[in-house]
Amino acid sequence: MASKFAAASLLLALVTSTYGNSTFITYQPAFKDIIGPSPKLELLLQNGSYPFAHEAPVYYQTKEDVFMVGNYQTKNGGQPIQISKMRAKNGVYVREEIFPDIPMANGAVNYKDGVLFAAQGTFDRPSALIYMDPEPPYATEVMLDSFNGRRFNSLNDVVIHSDGSIWFTDPTYGYDQGFTPKPDLPHQVYRFDPGTGSVRAVADGLGQPNGLAFSPDESILYVTDTDSHRGNGDNNPERAATIYAYDVKTYSNAPFLVNRRVFAYTDNGIPDGVKVDTNGNVYSGCGDGVHVWSPGGDLLGKIKLPSVSANFCFAEAGVMYILNEYKVWKATLSPDTHGALLGL
Ligand SMILES: *[C@@H]1O[C@H](CO)[C@@H](O)[C@H](O)[C@H]1NC(C)=O
Ligand SMILES: *[C@@H]1O[C@H](CO)[C@@H](O)[C@H](O)[C@H]1NC(C)=O
Repeated sequence: MASKFAAASLLLALVTSTYGNSTFITYQPAFKDIIGPSPKLELLLQNGSYPFAHEAPVYYQTKEDVFMVGNYQTKNGGQPIQISKMRAKNGVYVREEIFPDIPMANGAVNYKDGVLFAAQGTFDRPSALIYMDPEPPYATEVMLDSFNGRRFNSLNDVVIHSDGSIWFTDPTYGYDQGFTPKPDLPHQVYRFDPGTGSVRAVADGLGQPNGLAFSPDESILYVTDTDSHRGNGDNNPERAATIYAYDVKTYSNAPFLVNRRVFAYTDNGIPDGVKVDTNGNVYSGCGDGVHVWSPGGDLLGKIKLPSVSANFCFAEAGVMYILNEYKVWKATLSPDTHGALLGL
């Protein structure tokens, strides 16, 4: 007997291209426009002993370098988080460890000519926003290391608004993983204006605010909430694994976040890093690779990997570098797909 659900299950089955177990999976036809007719996945780097490819990835166009941050390994308690630079040398990708003074780095974003990191801090060093020169010796400068004198919990990720302001999240993963003091602030999102020095909370009521990204016209801020994974092994599927959207509205000449709504809930793992393309599609690193939603919140497709992707970055047209803990992948999508952060 013909099923009225046949069309839906057909779409679910469309696997576009494979590399081992890694594939492009199309849920809605619009995904084809994003990945183009011949999408490709290549494994660039791997390391069997250290998860060097966890967070940040920032594409530094001048040198075509990608900066990335490793994952904290509880079993080696006290081990600093490693920062690496990936460079293509004659078509061969190499990773070099670098040692800027950034205590327990996590997320990062292109800022001015360099990279702005969210440093989670330690028992001895405050969590902070730290600028890094992208050229050796990778000099650093602390931009903000407290909320008007009160220490942050453990800053996680950061984005820049075109008005020059810096927006960032402050969950409690540092404390949950045992390397920062007991939290002293709610789980919030903040905005810092480096021009005036004004720092303010812009969103609360989140479990573990994590990745964040503006829509291309900056009318919407997306914030991922990874509360279902607490970082101390307390994982619970009844808590958020959700991307929230807020409208960015101006009142009394200042920006406020209003109309918080569920933009998307992921079917696998937690939505960690989040980015948008120039058409407003929303990408997030989840338990089985990178998921892609339309601006209206429909799951369009997945760049499916065998395991978790916490974050990724767009580089040149159609090129995305995907961090997969012990591995780095290059996804080649349609040349018409451009990340909104750099617009390349
Ligand atoms: C594919 O996945 C299966 C099951 O998870 C695993 O045993 C196998 O090693 C994977 N193959 C590759 C090439 O990753
Ligand atoms: C794996 O990464 C660790 C930490 O960065 C490094 O010491 C080691 O040399 C790497 N192994 C290989 C085979 O690259």
